[in-house]
Amino acid sequence: MIPKDTAVPIRDDIFWIGGDDRTATIFEGAFPIPEGVSYNSYLISSEGKTCLLDTVDSSIASKFWRNLRKTMDGRDLDYLIINHMEPDHGACITQVLEAWPEVTVVGNSKTFDMLENFYRISPKNRMVVKEGDELVVGKHTLRFYFAVMVHWPEVMFTYDVGERILFSADAFGTFKAVSGALYADETDFDRDYLNEARRYYANIVGKYGAKVQNVIAKLKDVPIDMICPLHGPIWRSDLGYILGKYDLWSRYEPEERGVTIAYTSVYGNTAAVAERLAIMLKERGVENVTMHSMTVEHPSYAVADAFRFTNIVFASTTYNNALHPSMSSTIEDMEIMAVQNRRYSVIGNGSWAPQADRIIEERVSGMKGMTKVGETLTIKSSLAPEQVPELEALADAIAASVSES
Ligand code: FEO
Repeated sequence: MIPKDTAVPIRDDIFWIGGDDRTATIFEGAFPIPEGVSYNSYLISSEGKTCLLDTVDSSIASKFWRNLRKTMDGRDLDYLIINHMEPDHGACITQVLEAWPEVTVVGNSKTFDMLENFYRISPKNRMVVKEGDELVVGKHTLRFYFAVMVHWPEVMFTYDVGERILFSADAFGTFKAVSGALYADETDFDRDYLNEARRYYANIVGKYGAKVQNVIAKLKDVPIDMICPLHGPIWRSDLGYILGKYDLWSRYEPEERGVTIAYTSVYGNTAAVAERLAIMLKERGVENVTMHSMTVEHPSYAVADAFRFTNIVFASTTYNNALHPSMSSTIEDMEIMAVQNRRYSVIGNGSWAPQADRIIEERVSGMKGMTKVGETLTIKSSLAPEQVPELEALADAIAASVSES
C-alpha cells in the first residue's frame, strides 16, 4: 500500500514518485475520467548519481515535488530522461531545469524539438540518444528502445538491463487512480482496472496497432521482470497478462465473444428496439451483451467495447436528414481508432425519410475487415408489431455469428 504523499522504493535505489489526480474530470481535453488517473515518475539514485525518468502532470506537481525533494535529499540531479514529451508527463520539466540547470536531459532528436515547441526551452546539457544506446547511472545500465507512434513519434522506452525493468511510457498504462495499490498484483485488475485499461488503450493508442506490434516484436527476447508505465499500477508479476492484452488489442482481435449495442434515441423508440434486441440475444444464450446510449455516453466507452467484443450493433435515429450527431461521432471515433475485423449489424429509424441505416452502412462497411451480420432493420418512428419477426431474425443471425466466432 502507498503511504500518502511519499516516494516508494520499487528497488533499493529506484523510487516511484508519482501520484493520483481525482479532481480532473477530462483527460487530454477529450476523455471522461470519472475514477481519476495516476501519473507515475521514477527516480534512480545509485552510487552518487541521480536520474529522473519523466515528470508528471501539473495537477499533481506539488505531490511530485514533495516526493522528489524528499528522495533527492539535497543532492543534484544528474539526468532527466524524457521517455514521452506529452505535457501530462512533461509539465514539470521547466521547473526541473530551473532547479538543476546543469542536469543532462536525455531524449531523442524529436524529444528536443518538442521540448522547444511546448516549453520554449533548450537544455544546456543534452544527450541525444539513438535506438539501442545506453546510459550508465551508478550501477544501472539503461538502454533505450524507441517506441515510435506508441502513441507519439518521440516515445521511447528505457530498459534497466540489470534490474530487467522496462519504463514503458504510456504503454501498459490505464485510466483510473491507483487507490493505494502501487502494483497490479495488489489489485483485482480484471475486475477493477481492465475496462479502464482497455478504454485507455483503445482510445489513446488504438490507432497505432502496427506500431505496438513492432515494439512487442522488438522486445520479444528482452527479459523483463517489471513494467513501469506512466499511468496506473506497476507490473511485477503475470506480465504475460498485460502483454497478451496488448498483443490482442494491437492485432485488432476481440478478447471475448459478445455484442456491444451502441444506439442513439430521441424519444425512446430506437432505445426500445435496442433493449429488445439485447433481451433476445440473452434469450439466445449470448453471454456478453453491453449497451451504450450514445446521446449521454462518451464515445470512448463504445470504442473500448468495439475492441473487446466480436460483434457491434449500431442503432440510430435519423436527424436532420442525416445520422444523429452522437452516432456520427461514435462511428467517427471508431474509424479514427481503426476499429476493424468485427461483425456489425444495423438498425435505423426515420419518421419520414430514414437515412440513418444507409449512412451507418456506408461508413461502417468502409472500415477495414468489417462483416455484415443479418439484414438491416429499418423502422419508422417505432417498431411495428409486424416487424418483430425481423428483429427476431436479426437476433438469430447475431447469436449464430457470436457462437461461430
Ligand atoms: Fe500519458 Fe501520451 O501521455
